[in-house]
Amino acid sequence: MDALVVTGGRRLTGEVKASGAKNAALPIMAASILADEPLVLKGVPDLADIRTMGRLLGKLGVSVERKRGGTMVLASPSRSKRNRAPYEIMRTMRAGICVLGPLLARRGKAEVSLPGGCAIGDRPVDLHLKGLRALGARLEVEHGYIVGSCRRLRGGEMYLGGPFGSSVTGTANILMASVLADGTTVIDCAACEPEVQDLARVLEKMGARIAGIGSPRLVVEGVDRLGGCEHTVIPDRIEAGTFLVAGAATHGDVTVDGARWDDLFALVNTLREVGADVERQDGTIRISARHRLRSIDVTTLPFPGFPTDLQAQMMAALTTADGISVVTEKIFPDRFMHVAELGRMGARIRKQANAAVVHGTEHLSGAPVMASDLRASAALVIAALAARGTTTISRLYHLDRGYEHLEKKLRRLGAKVRRVNIKG
Ligand code: EPU
Repeated sequence: MDALVVTGGRRLTGEVKASGAKNAALPIMAASILADEPLVLKGVPDLADIRTMGRLLGKLGVSVERKRGGTMVLASPSRSKRNRAPYEIMRTMRAGICVLGPLLARRGKAEVSLPGGCAIGDRPVDLHLKGLRALGARLEVEHGYIVGSCRRLRGGEMYLGGPFGSSVTGTANILMASVLADGTTVIDCAACEPEVQDLARVLEKMGARIAGIGSPRLVVEGVDRLGGCEHTVIPDRIEAGTFLVAGAATHGDVTVDGARWDDLFALVNTLREVGADVERQDGTIRISARHRLRSIDVTTLPFPGFPTDLQAQMMAALTTADGISVVTEKIFPDRFMHVAELGRMGARIRKQANAAVVHGTEHLSGAPVMASDLRASAALVIAALAARGTTTISRLYHLDRGYEHLEKKLRRLGAKVRRVNIKG
């Protein structure tokens, strides 16, 4: 098993480039099922989840060709009968659910395993099913599989708000189903995340007619067919944000190339409030933090609110801030797996329902810790970079799902990190 050994206490300085966004690339790859012609994607990161989605699409008859430099060509046969997304793949990656809408829209049939459990809490799919049913799909859950069929989907109106706001992959799924439906679809309380916007832009390039991109109300006029297109995936705002928080936590001076200001404004605002200087310069964001950070209250919310995918990293930075911070999680109320591990490094955090009260301490100390999920792992890396001494983070496969060339990028910023293979 791979582990990351980090010797902390060094200021991160220099420039790093954000890779293409995993959470944009995954549903866009699934959109290839909708098209009559190949989809050429650029800036696709080389990550475990992307390879898993490639394998899943392969099972569904899509040819997936990875070329050099992050380019991927996907082509779906028009009349494939391979409509089963098996549990063996679906249990490892939730985004696999994004094939459900395209399969129904283009092939009229789908058998998609319910996605696997996840360390960040309950992740139901009721909103996906509600939206697809509103388009006329017949859907049952049988033996752990969502079994669906339809003739041509027809436009419908739906409200996608759930107890924690909208659903990102739910919106993606329904949007992909609606573009080939007969008539007009209105998706109200749609997710506005940049990754959903990127998917919508790809669908437009393929010939879809979508109004309201980036707003909570999407209006789709169905078309009879979609063609291919070429598209460059947006840079990963969560990866970019992780480097910015790491810059703040190590009192460093870090410039992230490709970090999009508008996609990251909630984080920019938070980092400024804790005392860092954050500036925008020609497609980059630069952070410099010279002094101990100040405490702050952070609440995660759907976009443009503070992203849940940066909550753990921000908490890691706040463990050494001056004062008491309260971090409230409003998207995944149980997403606090990092709290106990940060505690092993000397962080003083008390969890209360869907919030964590962080008492800033002067410094953390390196310790052996275990990653539990993707963003919790990123939080441990940030804590380790800021801590005194050496930290060994095991179960690195979580990080490999979402951060391309992480050690290389961190080393470029002056971090002392190395990957080792340990038993266990
Ligand atoms: N929800 C429902 N019903 C549904 C779907 C979701 O109640 O049918 C709830 C969830 O339980 C959660 C909230 O709605 O409380 C938001 O979940 P959402 O469906 O938006 O999450 P997702 O689409 O499964 C994507 C990202 C996550 C990210 C969330 C929130 C992908 C592949 N995953 O998940 O990314 O945390 O949106 O922004 O896009 C990550 O990259 O580490 C990651 C977990």
